[in-house]
Amino acid sequence: MNDLSGSPVIAPVVINRADYRPPEWLVPEIALDFALSLDATRVLATLKVAKNPAGSGTALLRLNGDSIEAKAVTVDGHVHNDWHMDGTDLVITLPGDAHDVGIETLINPAANTQLSGLYASNGLLCTQCEAEGFRRITFFPDRPDVLSVYSVRMSGDKAQFPVLLSNGNPTASGDNPDGTHWAEWHDPWPKPSYLFALVAGELVANRDSFTTMSGRKVNLAILVRPGDESRTDHAMRSLIASMKWDEQVYGREYDLDDFNIVAVSDFNAGAMENKGLNVFNTRYILADPETATDGDYDAIEGVVAHEYFHNWSGNRVTCRDWFQLSLKEGFTVLRDQQFSADRSSAPVKRIEDVRILRAAQFPEDSGPLAHPIRPDSYQEISNFYTATVYNKGAEVIRMMTVLAGMERFLKGTTLYFDRHDGEAATCEDFVRAIEDGAGLDLAQFRRWYEQAGTPKVTVTMALEGTSLSLTLSQTMAPTPGQPIKQPMVIPLRTALFDRTTGTHRGEELLVLTQAEQTFTFEGFDALPVLSINRGFSAPVEVVAPVTTDDLVFLARHDDDPFARYEAMQQLIVRYLVGAVAGTLENREASRDAIGAAMGAILDDAALDDLMRGELLILPGEAYLAEQLTCADPTRIFAEREGLKRWLGETLLAKWLSLHDRCSAVPYSLDAAARGARKCKTQALVYLAATDPAEAAARAKAQYDAATNMTDRQGALMVLCSLDCPERESALADFHARFEGNMLVIDKWFSLQAGSLNPKVTEHVKALSQHADFTMTNPNRVRALWMAYAANAQGFHREGGEGYRLIADLILKLDPINGNVAARFVPPLGRWKKVDEARAALMRAELERIAAAPSLSRDVREQVTKSLEA
Ligand code: TRP
Ligand code: ZN
Repeated sequence: MNDLSGSPVIAPVVINRADYRPPEWLVPEIALDFALSLDATRVLATLKVAKNPAGSGTALLRLNGDSIEAKAVTVDGHVHNDWHMDGTDLVITLPGDAHDVGIETLINPAANTQLSGLYASNGLLCTQCEAEGFRRITFFPDRPDVLSVYSVRMSGDKAQFPVLLSNGNPTASGDNPDGTHWAEWHDPWPKPSYLFALVAGELVANRDSFTTMSGRKVNLAILVRPGDESRTDHAMRSLIASMKWDEQVYGREYDLDDFNIVAVSDFNAGAMENKGLNVFNTRYILADPETATDGDYDAIEGVVAHEYFHNWSGNRVTCRDWFQLSLKEGFTVLRDQQFSADRSSAPVKRIEDVRILRAAQFPEDSGPLAHPIRPDSYQEISNFYTATVYNKGAEVIRMMTVLAGMERFLKGTTLYFDRHDGEAATCEDFVRAIEDGAGLDLAQFRRWYEQAGTPKVTVTMALEGTSLSLTLSQTMAPTPGQPIKQPMVIPLRTALFDRTTGTHRGEELLVLTQAEQTFTFEGFDALPVLSINRGFSAPVEVVAPVTTDDLVFLARHDDDPFARYEAMQQLIVRYLVGAVAGTLENREASRDAIGAAMGAILDDAALDDLMRGELLILPGEAYLAEQLTCADPTRIFAEREGLKRWLGETLLAKWLSLHDRCSAVPYSLDAAARGARKCKTQALVYLAATDPAEAAARAKAQYDAATNMTDRQGALMVLCSLDCPERESALADFHARFEGNMLVIDKWFSLQAGSLNPKVTEHVKALSQHADFTMTNPNRVRALWMAYAANAQGFHREGGEGYRLIADLILKLDPINGNVAARFVPPLGRWKKVDEARAALMRAELERIAAAPSLSRDVREQVTKSLEA
């Protein structure tokens, strides 16, 4: 492959949402013929093209290409010479309004390290076309508003590629006398090119079936490399549950006779929703108790559901252009969150989702790469598959469910699917359908699509006679390109607790729409305890007049489980932020309050262990950093560890008995056993901070007795952070035990890179030279380096070595895989949030990257923006 993606970018091309124009030519049908080979696959594409009546009428058909060359061009079956290249676009002059255009290309999948387009993974051939990978296979109007019916034929060596798959339904297949064979597939549903998929290779299938609500039988298959099939049952159960759930909740039925999932080990993202042929990263398919943690099981269930749900929210109704990405991603994340909440503990799921939002999206929203969930411009769309588009996008639609109630919201989504089925739609189409179907006025609410940044709501409370007034005001800090912000619609579920009885008179929904607004309530003899933004009904920061005593009260009594968690978090956030900023007035008293609240959680027999485990987790460092204008990350780390040590010591007996009690619970996948495992490792974490010898002994025993990966990984994580002989022996045992299992070896890398061990940087440097480390497998790169970039003690170590290591990685990875390399830029971009000395070191590394002679568009955009703001 003549790979051009590493060539220097002169002036960056900025794509603007406002510049959208309908396509000049449509492609109602396409036939693709692949002669498969690992290093020389020939592709013959035949496009039925027709002038778009909504276009300007130009005779020029412009087809996108990337790193490919046209070997031959025909029009209506005849060699056609009236074409030229314009940059990487192929421009063909056509005489009439409708033609058959034939194009031949030759590609080298084995040389495709970008993992976009057609590439090889462990001898398999597979595709990844979202967002703009199809143009690396053939020339095409590679934009999501050009929908085509695909017919695919492929042929190849039968021994090398026994299984031949594409979208839709298999229509014919056969053997050739020369040892090759062929297959044809037809997908009746018009789709954009980003949903095209092809897979060929040696795969074994776990097969099952699902009967839809209208009684149609769908053949299901999960295809993996031989030897992995025994680890696909959980994914299959998740798929069947998703299909059922989407029928029952959203009324969405599957629409093909077959549904195939293929798992590959080299993949840039989590998974891909190609029509009828989802392609997954193995880490979101393969699981058994010995190799997968409870968290892995949950992630698999969530991602399998997510990709399946895209069949409607993404495929049947797709995006008009890539600025609308949140139309499918935000909505589909919401749908997978709702599904997972229904499958297990809804409160725990909500807490986990908010934790992810705060850890990943809040920092994005306050940094140089902040963008609205519907961006206004981009240079490289791959950079916009972000926590903002996905997770904040889901929160924005979730607020519609809060405002309308789920029943009315579903009337809106039904209208949306009916109205736009088969279309490439916009976020505006979605909002209008919810307005019409749910009977909401979302005029001002649309600002959630326009404005970047996390609103901050400040609450004051006053009692006059028996009349209580709550005054809410909102502000939003400027973000790049948006210096001034307009007030948002912020729905806040609120309860006012009577301090003496511990009850409230029912939850109210306060909808803040102005910059400042006062809500009054009658019949109060005393100031109540305020419980606000219950269930995290809006993705905002709240500053409320809630005392430490109030937080202790809410942590014990709030009947909203999220609010209870939030009170606990607030209690700790206030203490840690105060300690780091040096503004803490009464250190001992604040710490004692946390100790008392946590002690009560440990003792509360009415709490299930899954929820208890959540309540015991300290707020993350990234979220803590968000609360400070400028912070020394190692001080946050040190204060957080210091609190952990103190809690470990103060509640020592409780941690020991928690660990004993939970260790006695036998392995199963039910909630009680999972909760026990979660608490077991939490107990070890606190013990390790205060009594390393006792923790090492217990962790070693937990490791040795482990019947499952949750216990084993938890124990190894704790050992990794300690400097003890058990550390080395457990790491060696783990590696030997799971040698050859790529996903488990990934854990081995990331546990060491994410560890609290002070020598983490030395460990990571050594691991980057380990025989098992490779720059060409994204999972392995992320396992080592993402874990390290998130580890304050390593990444932010004094002197800037952590920054230099990440910059070195970016420069080395960029020519191999620009998409994955760009993901490592945001940690370096947070220089405004740290002290000046560190900021200078971080900027210097960004400058060093920017000065490289050639960078991918991906890294170029992220680095430039990170330096600008
Ligand atoms: N559409 C995919 C999802 O969210 C995301 C995805 C898959 C992706 N592969 C990718 C995004 C490659 C960017 C690059 O389900
Ligand atoms: Zn998605």
